[in-house]
Amino acid sequence: MTCFDVDALRARFPALSLTHEGRPMVFFDGPGGTQVPDTVIDAVARYFRESNANAGGDFPTSRRSDAIVADAHAALADLVGAESVDEVKLGANMTTLTLHASRSITATMHPGDEIVVTRLDHEANVGPWLTAAADRDVTIRTVDIRPDDVTLDLDSLDAALGPRTRLVAVGWASNAVGTINPIAEIARRAHSVGAWVYVDAVHAAPHLPIDVRAVDVDFLACSAYKFFGPHLGVLYGRRAILEALPSYKIKPAHDRFETGTGNFEGQAGALAAVGYLADIGRRESGGNAPADRRARSSRACRRSGRGR
Ligand SMILES: Cc1ncc(COP(=O)(O)O)c(C=O)c1O
Repeated sequence: MTCFDVDALRARFPALSLTHEGRPMVFFDGPGGTQVPDTVIDAVARYFRESNANAGGDFPTSRRSDAIVADAHAALADLVGAESVDEVKLGANMTTLTLHASRSITATMHPGDEIVVTRLDHEANVGPWLTAAADRDVTIRTVDIRPDDVTLDLDSLDAALGPRTRLVAVGWASNAVGTINPIAEIARRAHSVGAWVYVDAVHAAPHLPIDVRAVDVDFLACSAYKFFGPHLGVLYGRRAILEALPSYKIKPAHDRFETGTGNFEGQAGALAAVGYLADIGRRESGGNAPADRRARSSRACRRSGRGR
């Protein structure tokens, strides 16, 4: 197909057949998350039927579970354009991952260092920085919004940046008003003063092809439930930075930035959600479908966001 076959796609979402008091239900809650296609539901159920086990065991269900975990990390690395799979960390949700990462990141800061947040951002990319900054005597600077069109005021960003800026926490797209920020330009300005950039891409991920290397950001967090998957958080971190950060690791966590037993069924569902996007990208491309999952899934998101 050369454009979205809406009926065929709708048929894959069982929730779209729900009725309430005899009338079809309509979902207007995009900022609250998407419904999920049949393949995601099946993947979560199949996990429990065929692979349910804890990690690292030398028996079939545990081996299958480990394979799903590895595949899910690889799929999400593809989705965000990470250079390597170990740059992707999975957790309960974006907020929890950000709260955790903010502790590690601010542990490298000193009193008088500065973190920049914005008035356009979701609380999940503001609150963790405010509380971590308070623990370390780090100063918070806040970027304003232009009231006429609720875009981020880049002059205000420039005024907030300085020699002590260590991190800029900014959203790619606003779940409240839909503003899409010029992330590559914001990253360029932050890097020009030596600061890292932590991007909240929760609302952007279903609408824009995410390419962490193209926009050159240091961290990016999103949530699978916004792009047809289950409730699962995804964190990308630039490998060199992650390796150098201290981590608040609780033994016997297998990863420095993931805690406890993973949500393996959620990871199975997230893997299927990336598969769903890649499938749309493949159909959308007709006979010219790119071979790899990354190109296919980004094509689907580019289509969804009308190429922005
Ligand atoms: C833009 C944005 N950032 C962050 C979040 C928080 O994500 P999570 O629920 O995965 O913690 C949301 C949730 O609605 C959101 O819309």
